[in-house]
Amino acid sequence: MQAFQLPKDFLFGTATAALQIEGGDRNNSWFRWCEQGHIKDGSHCILADDHWNRVAEDIDLMKKLNHQVYRMGLEWSRIEPRKGQFSTDALAHYRKEIELLVKNDIKPLVTLHHFSNPLWLEDQGGWLSEEVVGLFERFTEVVVNHLGDLVSEWITINEPNVYLAMGYVTGEWPPGEKNIMHYFKGAKYMIFSHIKAYQKIHTIRQDRGFKDTLVGVANHMRVFDPQHGTAREKLSCYLYDLLFQDLFIAGMVAGRLIPPVGTGYPLGKGYYMDFFGLNYYTRDIISATWNPAALFGKIEVKKGVPTNDLGWEIYPEGIYRISKQYYERFRVPIFITENGICDKHDRLRARYIYDHLYQIKRLIDEGVDVQRYYHWTLMDNFEWIEGLSGRFGLIEVDFDTQERKIRKSGEFYAAMSKNKGVSRDMIKKYLADSGT
Ligand code: GAL
Repeated sequence: MQAFQLPKDFLFGTATAALQIEGGDRNNSWFRWCEQGHIKDGSHCILADDHWNRVAEDIDLMKKLNHQVYRMGLEWSRIEPRKGQFSTDALAHYRKEIELLVKNDIKPLVTLHHFSNPLWLEDQGGWLSEEVVGLFERFTEVVVNHLGDLVSEWITINEPNVYLAMGYVTGEWPPGEKNIMHYFKGAKYMIFSHIKAYQKIHTIRQDRGFKDTLVGVANHMRVFDPQHGTAREKLSCYLYDLLFQDLFIAGMVAGRLIPPVGTGYPLGKGYYMDFFGLNYYTRDIISATWNPAALFGKIEVKKGVPTNDLGWEIYPEGIYRISKQYYERFRVPIFITENGICDKHDRLRARYIYDHLYQIKRLIDEGVDVQRYYHWTLMDNFEWIEGLSGRFGLIEVDFDTQERKIRKSGEFYAAMSKNKGVSRDMIKKYLADSGT
């Protein structure tokens, strides 16, 4: 293992999502999903980290971790509790939170949609509703009118592909459907919503004289590699790439629809991304035969490789491969908007961070413009269908007492953020027992 240095202007922080940390909101699709008993460990999102009441304490912890940036989400159901009615209290709460971040020199990157919907929207068809594009645009407008003087950087939608695959293909997430045509319909509306929101944010801030607006999407990207390298497996990998990733990228970056979602550029050909947000976790190995019933092949995990608590392969080179590929294609700066590991006992996290940042160093050396790293995540939280037992935090949380404790990997991350790199001393102190 070697010491390495990143550029001095490279920025470090963490990412979170409102529903996963705030607690206290009963007006969203995930609250209902929990009530219906879908969470694997039987836990619930109603309290989560109680962050809604602990904003100051949590920003203090971010300071201890030497954050320069922080990616946070807004809960739509709090801001627009009933269709067309906006809560000035909720907007004031977020305003205070953002003011506190700014006061602490932590630059916010704000996500407008991260997997959860207000119940009124869910009940009218969610992201399949004919109205959703206009509704999301109106929500964006209200938010940016209220917070746009403080926030210059926005993510419209988090991982549209994961949201739609889990909600409409596997059916494990709300609304629990198994209908691939709905996945494609939702994709179209999410692409349109992103473009409309992109334009809206830019227009509002430009009219107010701001010139530093950045808008993007947090794209969930995986590596798909063939198991044996057969032509059939390569075809499967291509299909996964196309329908799970490229479909969204083509739409959200350039406005282009790919069949079966659509064709051409219905909202105009453009460049609707000021940075490429990359959420990277793992790779999938695809095995496939020519059985015509199995169009897509099977998703597997490579045998004998290190995995996280959820069985996902730890594959740092993937962050390099994906960043390189998309940078060559679009040439916009890359923000790693999520990257992290479910590791309850904190055995692998420091090494995971080291290995992924090492790949980022490689990218930068080769001229790829990676500017930021938002680790997923600040503290243990409500990990969707895995519930409170999926532990991704740099900070360990005792959900009975709400006590927070910085993990050893969190200390390592704090040192890395401060030094913008890894020194020999840090390797000795934090990585000595994690192999070479
Ligand atoms: C992402 C998601 C996050 C978080 C993370 C870890 O897909 O955006 O909310 O849950 O995965 O699983």
